[in-house]
Amino acid sequence: MAESVKMSDAQIEYLNLIAEVMSIRKRGEEPLAYIRTYGCQQNVADSERIKGMLHTAGYSFTEDPEQADFILFNTCAVREHAEDRVFGNVGALKNLKRRHPQILIALCGCMMEQEHVAKRIRESFPFVGLVFGTHCMHEFPELLYKSLVDGSRIFMRGNDDKLVHEGIPAYRDGRFKGWLPIMYGCDNFCTYCIVPYVRGRERSRDPEIIIAEAKEMIEKGYKDITLLGQNVNSYGKGLEPRPTFAQLIGEIDRIEGDYWLRFMTSHPKDCTRELIDTIADSKHISLHLHLPFQSGSDRVLKAMNRHYDREKYLDIVNYAKSRIPDVSLTSDVIVGFPGETYEDFQETLSLIREVGFTSLFTFIFSPRTGTPAASMDDPVSDEEKGRWFRELLAVQEEIATERCASMVGRVERVLVEEKAKREGRLCGRTSGNIIVEFDGDESLIGDFRDVKITKARNWILAGELMK
Ligand code: SAM
Ligand code: SF4
Ligand code: F3S
Repeated sequence: MAESVKMSDAQIEYLNLIAEVMSIRKRGEEPLAYIRTYGCQQNVADSERIKGMLHTAGYSFTEDPEQADFILFNTCAVREHAEDRVFGNVGALKNLKRRHPQILIALCGCMMEQEHVAKRIRESFPFVGLVFGTHCMHEFPELLYKSLVDGSRIFMRGNDDKLVHEGIPAYRDGRFKGWLPIMYGCDNFCTYCIVPYVRGRERSRDPEIIIAEAKEMIEKGYKDITLLGQNVNSYGKGLEPRPTFAQLIGEIDRIEGDYWLRFMTSHPKDCTRELIDTIADSKHISLHLHLPFQSGSDRVLKAMNRHYDREKYLDIVNYAKSRIPDVSLTSDVIVGFPGETYEDFQETLSLIREVGFTSLFTFIFSPRTGTPAASMDDPVSDEEKGRWFRELLAVQEEIATERCASMVGRVERVLVEEKAKREGRLCGRTSGNIIVEFDGDESLIGDFRDVKITKARNWILAGELMK
């Protein structure tokens, strides 16, 4: 059972001590931190909590590592490419540390939970002073303080205590779009995936704490709130009484206000009709379902340990389409899983055509040390996988273009997010998470506006603001 614990007084006291140390040690007017986040929204949400602790300890934030007193990379281990980028970017800090020895360089997040990574950092990156994994975030104040005053290198990881740590302040990056974690970890052990090893067992936050946090965000003016978990559909495991995810999101939907609610990620094996009904009947839940299918071949899905087949996936998708006529479906898909044949891959293409996704996150299989798939026979060459991958992108582009073109002429409610690249243009998103560009004044950023869709360019829409 996942038990919730408050951040300890001792950790809060460390934040005060850090403030004292840094009032003397800061390089400029005020202590500055540079935080760089890799990976998924879970990491973004973790970084917001780390920033919350740093802010309490008196730090401000900078986009320029050259100015910083404290540099932290929050890392991702999901694919080799993600890890390579981190190693490359950490290597580039060596000179900075040589020029400003008082800077503290730290690494945290999913990569740091892997022993072979910690070993490589220890041996090849001596200028990194602090390393901590995903399970040690609540001890960050103590670790930072000890690194600052002691100066010796600290490595902490692998403390999967199955607790949910509450009361860590969040310093959110967005003013109107925000992340709200509802659970941590993953119990699914898909054979290709490193996440269960680096994030530990699934634990759900108390529904009352989540609802209070959602209320607070809505009161502060957040317009687009995304509930986060690796498999939100299994929310509640270990809680007594056990709420379903549909019940949780239904409760949040009852909070008064003008906002959209999103959630990710849904696992098809646990995605229920109850959830689809809740979306269909809700006031605030966006008409968007991100439902990763990974492969269209039953043989590959079995080897991936996904616990659903193509038929079950299509069944839930068809139910969603019938209950939510405008539903926008998005997904993750892996190309080149070990043992996948061109025929299996064709099944993936046919599923993509059958569903008609708005957009896809597409990945080529990347072997992860310690996962079962990393030691499976993988006879297909990288070049061949690359060809399949390009074929998939071409098919998806065709589908997305068609889907976007079908929206021309409609009026869509859009949350205005930022200035577009072209002068005088703004960029926003529909409830289905589709990007729309239109002329408008930047004072509209953060507001909902109605936009008439006039044109579709691949998967981006162009439109005109309605009066
Ligand atoms: N929990 C979510 C789910 O099950 O859909 C997604 C988590 S994972 C952080 C995001 C995506 O990365 C996965 O859906 C999968 O498509 C992709 N992925 C994970 N491990 C991978 C690997 N070893 N190689 C390639 N893609 C991978
Ligand atoms: Fe990884 Fe599967 Fe868990 Fe998603 S559900 S995080 S893909 S193990
Ligand atoms: Fe990466 Fe960790 Fe997310 S491995 S994708 S940052 S859970």
